[in-house]
Amino acid sequence: MSPKLQAPRGTLDVQPGDARRRLRIVRIAEELLGRAGYEPFETPVFEDTELFARGVGESTDIVQKEMFTFEDKAGRLLTLRPEATAAICRAYVEHGMHKLAQPVKLWTWGPFFRHEAPQAGRFRQFTQIDAEALGSDDPSLDAELILLLAELIERAGAGPARLRLSSLGTPETRAAYLDALRSHLRAHENRVSREVRERLDQNPLRAFDADHPGTQAVMTEAPRLLDRLEPDDAAHFADVRALLDAAGLAYEVDSTLVRGLDYYTRTVFEFESERLGAQAALGGGGRYDRLVEELGGPATPGVGWAAGIERILLASDAEPEDEARVFVALAKPDAKGRAFRMARSLRAQGIRAEIEQAGRSLKGQLKQADRIGARATVIVGDTIDVRDMDSGEQREADGADEAMARVRELLG
Ligand code: HAM
Repeated sequence: MSPKLQAPRGTLDVQPGDARRRLRIVRIAEELLGRAGYEPFETPVFEDTELFARGVGESTDIVQKEMFTFEDKAGRLLTLRPEATAAICRAYVEHGMHKLAQPVKLWTWGPFFRHEAPQAGRFRQFTQIDAEALGSDDPSLDAELILLLAELIERAGAGPARLRLSSLGTPETRAAYLDALRSHLRAHENRVSREVRERLDQNPLRAFDADHPGTQAVMTEAPRLLDRLEPDDAAHFADVRALLDAAGLAYEVDSTLVRGLDYYTRTVFEFESERLGAQAALGGGGRYDRLVEELGGPATPGVGWAAGIERILLASDAEPEDEARVFVALAKPDAKGRAFRMARSLRAQGIRAEIEQAGRSLKGQLKQADRIGARATVIVGDTIDVRDMDSGEQREADGADEAMARVRELLG
């Protein structure tokens, strides 16, 4: 016997009920983001490896450990995208979008790839909805995006979610702060975990994230970046907060919020579900005012977020909406042509209509109609009958038009 084939580790097949729930979330995103002026946009699923190395940051886990990288036939190094922001910035530069009216607001959704250890809510191929606003540092964009993500989570049935918010200031403030933090960690080197000690030079912020009790104790006394922001950045953060306050959105200012990507400046945020375990982040993002320039474009501020569809679904209790269904049955085999036309007319009227396509007896067809939860069955033979599947009442219709009217009545 040939060995059984399975989907690769960390990937998942999205089966029909789930696929429908996922599409519903995408549709909610499309509606919410569309109303706020965000345009759908797509970039390739793979890019030059260098884009992510430069964009996401050499010291991040994503770049160091998690990228699916391969060589193409010409020896070019390519990577399956681990996130969307770097590619959107690349496209902004490549297509001269700085010449358009600013800000340029874009959103996208699709598969992303990270070679992480799979666990509940963590996959190697996962799906993000991503929204970005480039070309303005107006704090209302930060607040608008945060509110849009809050609404998406709410409408997807994945609430309540805890919103953590912070500001990272500029890279310069951050560099000075990181020095102070390194000194603090060095002063307590014997109490922190080996991993933190080893990455102390590269990424001391990671220490805020540690599970290690000794490290956690050291971090409670560590200096906080929020206390050291430049006046401009502090004012920007105050503006973002004031807009969220005015909108009535609750959040926690959390100066220990660490995002796994290097490009952030100023605002950072993350929504965590109270219903999920270790992988609780439903979505997160922030401002990246230097990224476009670092990728070779003109100085262009930007802000955005990404949300994981799989995690939203895990946290959500929303059932897929039941669409009214109609079954078209054949009372005798030679009614096929008329039944086929009937099904097409129903569909043209916007009704979900399925026709018998498996050679069942009429009794078998009615059973099938019941199984799929049809509200009505149109039985086409010498006559056309419409059966109310709830009451079992069946009535002959005077032609196709009357049958259609009766179906409409039943669907309500
Ligand atoms: P991120 O926090 O790395 O941000 O990912 C955003 C969301 O994607 C996470 O909160 C989570 O829901 C989902 N996600 C990430 N990795 C996995 C995984 N392995 N399995 C399942 N879900 C996952 C970004 O990607 C940034 N590009 C967001 C951003 C946009 N910042 C500014 N603009």
